[in-house]
Amino acid sequence: MSKWQRITDYLNYRVKARTLHGLHSPFVYKLVETLIEDKGCTFSAFERLDAVRQQLLNDATLLQIEDLGAGSNVLKQKERRVKDIARYGITRKRFSEFYFKLINYFDYRQVVELGTSLGLNTLYMANAGRKPEVYSIEGSGALHYYAQTLITAEGVTNVQLIQGNFDEQFPALLRRLPKLDFLLVDGNHTYEATLRYFTMALPYVHEHTLLVFDDIYWSEGMKRAWMEIKRHPRVSVSLDFYYCGLVFFKSGFKEPLHFYIQQP
Ligand SMILES: C[S@@+](CC[C@H](N)C(=O)[O-])C[C@H]1O[C@@H](n2cnc3c(N)ncnc32)[C@H](O)[C@@H]1O
Repeated sequence: MSKWQRITDYLNYRVKARTLHGLHSPFVYKLVETLIEDKGCTFSAFERLDAVRQQLLNDATLLQIEDLGAGSNVLKQKERRVKDIARYGITRKRFSEFYFKLINYFDYRQVVELGTSLGLNTLYMANAGRKPEVYSIEGSGALHYYAQTLITAEGVTNVQLIQGNFDEQFPALLRRLPKLDFLLVDGNHTYEATLRYFTMALPYVHEHTLLVFDDIYWSEGMKRAWMEIKRHPRVSVSLDFYYCGLVFFKSGFKEPLHFYIQQP
């Protein structure tokens, strides 16, 4: 995607993005008021997670990465330093904190992440709320091992890391989960793969499930996948934060609601 298209998409999002004003749905209003507008809403775990981020940003360890997905716009080599992955290849702090707050707010118990990478975002999710069961899948053996070491060192026990391709491991995981509360799709950013993971998840969604798609404006394919996902007949509410998109399946809405929301 060209630089100009990226700028146009971002400006288009900025023009449409709302704060509380104009949010006529009580469900969305309360969510935005509590999780986005209340800037004082912070948690003690964030301080420790900031320290872990700093540790990763200073770690010069070289990893041999086998990328099973669409790759990165910035990191092209197979050999990558942990500190470069921490800078360019993982969820930014305010979005990891946002996912933490979402899990907390809805009291989700079964959380799945596609794309573990270094495991920092996994740690955020594992520390949220009443400590949900977190499952995270990663294709690269080196990243899987690194994340496992980090999570063990942090003394976190409510995470199961799975190594393998999403295409095999995600359906296998879904079959053994009691339910799917929260799913973050954060890897293999292509049109086909994103729709495939959405389709795999659909039979397992319930009234309170939240699906989150990362990098929805990363490419023309991702934009198309996001448009199709949010227009799916089972989706009742979509929230577009430019860097990620959220879809809910709650009933009780006369018609589907689609909002562009100012970023956290
Ligand atoms: C953007 S990173 C994940 C970042 C992580 N969620 C975070 O915020 O810290 C995407 C990861 O997905 C993995 N990946 C991409 N396609 C995959 C696939 N088909 N199967 C398994 N892993 C895949 C990549 O190796 C990469 O580590």
